[in-house]
Amino acid sequence: MPNKNDYIAVFDSGVGGISVLRHLRREMPGERFLYFGDSANAPYGTRPTEQIQALTTAAAEMLMGRGIKALVLACNTATAAAAKSLRLRFPDTIIIGIEPALKLAADRFPGGTVGVMATPATLREGKFARLMERCDQCQVVKLPAPGLVELVEAGKADSHETEQLLRQLLQPWEGKLDAIVLGCTHYPFARDMIRKLLGRECAILDGGHGTAIHTRRRLEGEDLLREGPGEVIIENSTDDPKLIALCHRLLEDREQDEEGAYHGS
Ligand code: DGL
Repeated sequence: MPNKNDYIAVFDSGVGGISVLRHLRREMPGERFLYFGDSANAPYGTRPTEQIQALTTAAAEMLMGRGIKALVLACNTATAAAAKSLRLRFPDTIIIGIEPALKLAADRFPGGTVGVMATPATLREGKFARLMERCDQCQVVKLPAPGLVELVEAGKADSHETEQLLRQLLQPWEGKLDAIVLGCTHYPFARDMIRKLLGRECAILDGGHGTAIHTRRRLEGEDLLREGPGEVIIENSTDDPKLIALCHRLLEDREQDEEGAYHGS
């Protein structure tokens, strides 16, 4: 049986889930977090669904073996491809999956135009099509951003290369979007650049804060919330000390100022 002192595992294809861990830690400072990034196999978002499922399942199995009380899929791509099958496989563990905060944007901007930046895999899955159907009060523009995950993994979220990639993707939409949803957990690390390109009038939303609130509620509901001193362990499938250092830097360095309710699954 899980107990309060067990770890909450946080999983992403790489360093992106750190943007969610920031919110989780703020929301539940007394928890022990075990972060695992699968950078050896990143990016997931350009892989076929079966591969994403297999990689996510392998990581989940490894983490379950560590005696965790909850698993947070801090990866929109992994949630879209594998959350359902993981819940069937591990019915006794709380499994929370982040998904693009489109519902939040649609509720805030009915009749508006909302861009959703996400990986090609997230945007092609049936889960996203169903989400779009539920958000038909706004016009949705799909904005896949291949290449951006690799730049964040390389510690280049603030670089000229990132600016060029984003400029090409977003410039045609300048002044035309009411909101943009960051539907990949790597993208909040390029938030400042996105804001610079789209201007202050365009709201920038992501599901990190909502996912943290939802995780806390689920743990509270099962009397599994810990109040002891908090802890964060960061592991990566590459064992590359540079990537671990990057994760710590991303965890501590940046301010993420957008909040939102949970609309994941
Ligand atoms: N960070 C992941 C997400 O939220 C995906 C990145 C990747 O393509 O590996 O979708």
